[in-house]
Amino acid sequence: MNRFAQLDHQYIWHPFTQMRNWLGREPMVISSGKGAVLRDVKGRDYLDANSSIWTNLHGHNHPKINGAIRRQLVKISHSSALGFANQPASLLAEKLVKIANPKPVAGRDFSRDKIGGEKSGLDGVSPHLNKVFFSDDGSTAMEVALKLAYEFTRRTRGKGTKPKFLSLDGAYHGDTVGAVSAGHIDLFHKAYAGLLFKTDKVMSPYCYRCPYNRAKPERADAREYRKCNWECVGLVEKKFAAQKKRGNPYAALVFEPLMQGSAGMIPQPGGWLGQVTDIARSHGALLIADEVMTGFGRTGLAGDDVRRVYSKEKNKSEPPYVGSYENSLFACQQEKVQPDFLCVAKGLTGGYLPMAATLTTQKVFDAFLGEYSEFKTFFHGHSFTGNQLGAAAALVSLEILQSEKSVRQRAALQKNLQAGLQTLWSLPKVGDIRQVGLVAGIELVKDWRTRKPFALGERAGIRVCEAMARHGVLTRPIGNVIVLMPPYCTTAEQTRKMVSALRDSIQSLPG
Ligand SMILES: Cc1ncc(COP(=O)(O)O)c(C=O)c1O
Repeated sequence: MNRFAQLDHQYIWHPFTQMRNWLGREPMVISSGKGAVLRDVKGRDYLDANSSIWTNLHGHNHPKINGAIRRQLVKISHSSALGFANQPASLLAEKLVKIANPKPVAGRDFSRDKIGGEKSGLDGVSPHLNKVFFSDDGSTAMEVALKLAYEFTRRTRGKGTKPKFLSLDGAYHGDTVGAVSAGHIDLFHKAYAGLLFKTDKVMSPYCYRCPYNRAKPERADAREYRKCNWECVGLVEKKFAAQKKRGNPYAALVFEPLMQGSAGMIPQPGGWLGQVTDIARSHGALLIADEVMTGFGRTGLAGDDVRRVYSKEKNKSEPPYVGSYENSLFACQQEKVQPDFLCVAKGLTGGYLPMAATLTTQKVFDAFLGEYSEFKTFFHGHSFTGNQLGAAAALVSLEILQSEKSVRQRAALQKNLQAGLQTLWSLPKVGDIRQVGLVAGIELVKDWRTRKPFALGERAGIRVCEAMARHGVLTRPIGNVIVLMPPYCTTAEQTRKMVSALRDSIQSLPG
């Protein structure tokens, strides 16, 4: 066995991994990467079809991000945010505030830009989300939002209140104790119930397996042919009403917008997010948007942005449009929802370094202001908060993201992925194909006509991913759901290879 693999076996405990299985085989040791390709120590190349656990945006070894880190490296790598400011973190905060508060463009009326009934700043004059708290990863970004929302609610509703959160069934917001408390995946979370604070859950709109969807299975994304009366939205209203009756309205609704990742790539039908966030607002709840997976363009371009990219191709005389591409960098913006807390991580640095941010409003910020002796300070922070290397990488990543080249790449990848995925409907073991922009979940079933799932013990998803690796494509399943989430630089040819490896691997499943 390779020396690094041996050392790994001897010393490393891997996340979300049954280590008995891990120790039973030689692990792949990654040695380098370029674009969408990862290379192992044996010199074999693989396509990175899940963007290194949903982090990488523009590809590995990107010359511009490498350059930014190098330039920062010779100045300083890290100084503390406890007591000092620094250049890249200040610039990054400014940039994040800018992209989190898009200026309305024609046809993109952000009509839900209200907090507690007040007009917010989406007029472009006074930004709505204008304070940035940096941390290290998705879990800590969520932890910060939960703690801020909790204490903000106590300070505004009265110290006697016990703020309560509502989140979605199947929610995953990270592995720190607060994030786990807001999560609802029994397999991950149940064992720790004794450690957690109680949150409520409400049905998430999993159209393919929704008990209210009366449609028979078809060879299309279940969102398209569902037959229901939006019972899932009705249940949200009921939850809010019931909690209000108890005299303690929910402090906040916590959600992943457009697509719940770890729940199994569960996409929300168009209009769901707008409706449920309107309900939450009408009950005075804050909105905590977890865009750890969905942020930075992952959920694709909104319809009008795609049209503009292509219409501009036809009509070269149109003025540059780059400014308003910003409107599609976050999933919330595609449903015209402006949250009170926006949590980002994974792709923030282009997937290069661990860095996260929680954006919030002036109103929340002000609730923590006071004389030193009032101790209203937000007593929370991390050693690497506002790290310079991460911020330098993030600044360049955002610059790339907003370039016309990247917008075109993303529009093309979205189309290529869609075209490739269509070809999988002919496979009887494919039950549902759910694509939102540049991320897709393919749900495997025993037979598409019955929607009968594979038992988890059959390891269907794992086996398909192992077979895909033998075809030179790496991804990780979520139970029976195979994830395709390529870096934005993935070419048409590479996309075809990913889909064809997936097709062959599904066909190799026995029975
Ligand atoms: C939606 C969402 N929130 C939070 C997290 C936690 O992020 P991290 O693993 O960086 O702590 C994840 C991780 O997959 C996620 O998908």
